[in-house]
Amino acid sequence: MWTKACIFDLDGVIVDTARYHYLAWKRLTDDLGIIFTPEENERLKGVSRMASLEIILELGGKIHSVSEKKEMAALKNKWYLEYISTMTPKDILPGTLELVNELKFNKIKIALGSASRNTPLLLERLEIADMFDAVADGNSVNKTKPDPEVFLKAAGMLGVEKARCAVFEDASAGVEAALKAGMICIGIGDRSVLKDAHMVIAGLYEMDLNKLVVLEKSLGYEKLV
Ligand code: BG6
Ligand code: MG
Repeated sequence: MWTKACIFDLDGVIVDTARYHYLAWKRLTDDLGIIFTPEENERLKGVSRMASLEIILELGGKIHSVSEKKEMAALKNKWYLEYISTMTPKDILPGTLELVNELKFNKIKIALGSASRNTPLLLERLEIADMFDAVADGNSVNKTKPDPEVFLKAAGMLGVEKARCAVFEDASAGVEAALKAGMICIGIGDRSVLKDAHMVIAGLYEMDLNKLVVLEKSLGYEKLV
C-alpha cells in the first residue's frame, strides 16, 4: 500500500484533553473578563500555548507585557495539569490501540505529531510512550500548526517520505499543517470544521487499514505504488 507511516495528533485524537485545554483557557478568560466561546476555541486547537494566548488576548483587545503573558500561560498550564492529573490508560480514546496494532502488524510506522509541551507527561500517564516509533511535539519544534514543521519532523525522524505519511487530526490548524506537508489527512470530528481533510470520521474507532487503502485509491495514490 501507499502509506508507510501514520502520524497521530494527541489532544483530541488519542485522548480527550481538548476539553481540558478549553476549560483551562475559559478559566483564564473569565478572570480577565474576556468573552470566549467554544467557537473561538476551535481556533486554538492544535495551536501552541503562547500562540493560543495571543489569540485570546486579541479577543480582549488590551496590551499586556511579556512577563504578564508568561504568568497567564503558566496559570493556564497549572489548571490544565490539574485537570489531566487523574488521567490513566483508561482515558485512551476508543479504537486507538486497535488501529495502531493493525497498522503495526502491516508494517506501517507510527508517530506522534503534537503541539503540546505536555506530551511526555501525557504519554507517561497513558502508558503509551513505547507505542511510537517517533515523537515530535511542542518541545522539539519552533513553529506551531498550521505550519507543517511538526509533521515534517515526525516523517524525518521515521525516515519516511512525507508524501507517504497519513495524519490523524482534530484541529483545523492541524489539517492545514498536514496538507501543507503534502500528507494524507484524516480529520477527527466535525466535517464542517475540518472541511479540507481528505476524509472525516467521528473517532479512531471508525478507522481501519482497509478504509485507509480505499482512501488512498480514491486519491489516486495506488497508481504510484
Ligand atoms: C495542542 C492543543 O495539542 O497543544 C492546543 O490542541 C494546545 O489546545 C497545544 O494549546 C499546546 O499544549 P500545551 O500542553 O503545550 O499547553
Ligand atoms: Mg488536537
